[in-house]
Amino acid sequence: PPLDEILNLHDFENISKQVMSEKAWAYYSSAADDEITNRENHAAYHRIWFRPRILRDVTKVDWSTTILGHKSSMPVYISATALGKLGHPDGEINLTRAAAKHGVIQMIPTLASCSFDEIVDAAQPGQVQFFQLYVNKDRAITKKLVQHAESRGVKGLFITVDAPQLGRREKDMRMKFEAEDPSVVSKSGSSGTDRSQGAARAISSFIDPGLKWDDLQWFKSITKMPLILKGVQCWEDTLQAYDVGVAGVVLSNHGGRQLDFARSGIEVLVEVVAKLKEKRGLTFPNEKFQLFVDGGVRRATDVLKAIALGATAVGVGRPFLYSFSAYGSEGVEKALQILNDEFEMNMRLLGAPTLKDVVPEMVDASNLQSH
Ligand code: FNR
Repeated sequence: PPLDEILNLHDFENISKQVMSEKAWAYYSSAADDEITNRENHAAYHRIWFRPRILRDVTKVDWSTTILGHKSSMPVYISATALGKLGHPDGEINLTRAAAKHGVIQMIPTLASCSFDEIVDAAQPGQVQFFQLYVNKDRAITKKLVQHAESRGVKGLFITVDAPQLGRREKDMRMKFEAEDPSVVSKSGSSGTDRSQGAARAISSFIDPGLKWDDLQWFKSITKMPLILKGVQCWEDTLQAYDVGVAGVVLSNHGGRQLDFARSGIEVLVEVVAKLKEKRGLTFPNEKFQLFVDGGVRRATDVLKAIALGATAVGVGRPFLYSFSAYGSEGVEKALQILNDEFEMNMRLLGAPTLKDVVPEMVDASNLQSH
């Protein structure tokens, strides 16, 4: 169907399923084990209700924000997702182009299909990009990647901490990752592949399961980029991250692709905000220590719930993969335009002229807890 018949982010999923290769669908859509966490990620938002306010002047509403000190047209960034060329020949560049048009930030994955430099080169002057890092057992490779990213102007280093081993994604495993495939993994990120158990396993064997808290000091010594831990899942680790002095955390379960029965990021956010207030007197959103959430975000209302509960911004993964797989960069632009339109309307209906007005009292999260 033509792009103007697409009404929401779910539509991209349904359409792209019909046009993508089976292999791409298996890799993009799959999640760990019985995919319970993947379903929960979106379902958790259905347990949060709004408490809108009335009679506030909402002629003009503004949902722009700053993320790690950088302007973003909305409190959403494009999260890192590997293997963009499985879905579309231009791979991650589709995201770069659409991000430029809409003034949002793209997080470049270690395991991109396009090379890191191709993705940076595709950016417009001044366009902000972050880098997602899988830490290699060979730290010399990691050091080179990180310092190269910094030298190319990357503004934040998101270290993935929820993947000492890749989760079991059975849909993907049933599709063997064939050696004769078009080259979908850039050489820049990985080394050494096992092709017998699906795309995920094939590309991830270099990741270091020995990564630990002490290593963060080393990262601080090799780069000035702000460090953010991606894949934090409880308040205890968030507190430790704050004490160690990183710039923020992403409360995420990797789109349900790692530990099945991990809780949704939005549920974790509530305990994190409460406990960091209790233990360190912090209030959120907080400029100095930023909380991000990802997983299952499909509507601006989902985003606004996370903002109300203390997040600075949220990451979105699969919807952008699906939109470029079906329509290239124009699909991603459309997805971002849909989110924009949803922000405008829903902030009016909430009675929130700016994101600062989206306060905890605007949501009822009393039924959020999954247990
Ligand atoms: C991911 N994600 C991910 N995360 C990461 O740190 N490094 C990576 O290489 C990838 N690769 C990847 C591939 C695919 C196909 C998906 C769907 C996801 C996780 C991603 O950054 C993010 O946490 C989730 O995608 C968020 O959930 P939604 O928006 O996809 O529901």
